[in-house]
Formats: sequence, C-alpha cells, structure tokens
Amino acid sequence: MDTLVVDHPLVAHKLTTLRDVRTDSPTFRRLTDELVTLLAYEATRDVRVADVTVDTPLMPMTGVQLTRPTPLVVPILRAGLGMLDGMTRLLPTAEVGFLGMARNEETLAPATYADRLPNDLSGRQCYVLDPMLATGGTLAAALRLLVERGADHVTAICLLAAPEGLRALAEKVGEPAATLRVVTAAIDDRLNEKGFILPGLGDAGDRLYG
Ligand code: PRP
Repeated sequence: MDTLVVDHPLVAHKLTTLRDVRTDSPTFRRLTDELVTLLAYEATRDVRVADVTVDTPLMPMTGVQLTRPTPLVVPILRAGLGMLDGMTRLLPTAEVGFLGMARNEETLAPATYADRLPNDLSGRQCYVLDPMLATGGTLAAALRLLVERGADHVTAICLLAAPEGLRALAEKVGEPAATLRVVTAAIDDRLNEKGFILPGLGDAGDRLYG
C-alpha cells in the first residue's frame, strides 16, 4: 500500500489554519473544501484516461478523456461529506456512492450504518474521502468492502493520518487484489488513548457539522 504526503506550501498553510482551535465552522468547511481540491489534484494523477481525437478550430489532434465507467467517489459519512464538493470540482462526471460508518467511542471499532454503493464495482477506480485516518479501522473496513465488490484501484484521500493507523491499515488489508493508495496532507505524531490524532485538528466531524 502506497502512501503519498502532499508536500506543498498551500496545503501546509490551509492545514495549519484547520488545526487552529480558533477556526470557526464556516471557515473550517471552506478550507476543507479547498484542501481537498489540492489533494485531489495529486490523488488523480493516475486516473484512467483514453486517447480520443479532438477537432481544434484548425485541425484534428489526439487528446485524452476519462474512460467509462467514470471513477466512483465514496465519502465516508459523516465527516467525509465535507470533502465531496472539493473532489467533484475536479471530477464532475464521477459517480458518488455513500458509506456511513461511525467508530464506537469505547472500543474504537467501526460500525457501518449506511451502504449506498453499487454492488458491482468490477474493474472500477474508486476515491474514498475521509478526513481522519486514526486507528485505520474505518478505512480498512471501507477498502475491504470496495475490493470485495470488485474495485481494482482504490485511493483514500485524508487530511491527516496517524503513523499507527497507516501501519494497522497496511496489516489489515494485507495483499489485496487491488492497488491501494493513501494520499494525505500530513502524517502526525501519534494517537492518544482515546484514538484522536495528535497534534491533529480535533474531531473533524464536529468541527464541520457541530
Ligand atoms: C472519524 C473520522 C473517521 C474515523 C477515523 O469518524 O471521520 O471516519 O473516525 O477513525 P479510525 O481511523 O480510528 O477508524 P467518526 O466515527 O467520529 O464519525 P463522524 O464522521 O460521523 O464524526
């Protein structure tokens, strides 16, 4: 499983403001949206395209366009919903599927409460949106589900990841029958005893939606 940390001053700048405890909810939403578009630019570097012929006003030439079926974008509710607009700004033709998952506050185990994904994802490229990769349990369950349904290329886009979560995710997914990647704005120091990323940015769902 590959991990890419997007090293860019605008990403670092926006992330710093997101981390600030004084940043209010409207600003947090706007910055999340902007940050996702920057991360999506890197995350879609290997989006599948095919050659097409295009007629310019002067002559025909060979260009590219997204192959069909177009990628599936999967925000993990609730907090991943705050990343959807920033992603579809770059991929407006993408199909969108929804997964509702919540961590049990005591055990930190994820439970799936909504599954609105296509049943057949054979050969599909998917982009999973979830701001926080903490213990990695939520993302591992989501990736497993997508691969079980046939997805063969899955990229998770996160704002922040914990080193423990990245290690756990790699162990949990093992040798999958698909290419799996994580793209994140930063890898923080560690998790605290409640499973929060340190220094982190707090609870992304609460900061987005109260
Ligand atoms: C948070 C976050 C991730 C998950 C990460 O969601 O948005 O989905 O926890 O934790 P993990 O890596 O330890 O599994 P939460 O369960 O708080 O739900 P919410 O998005 O509805 O706030």
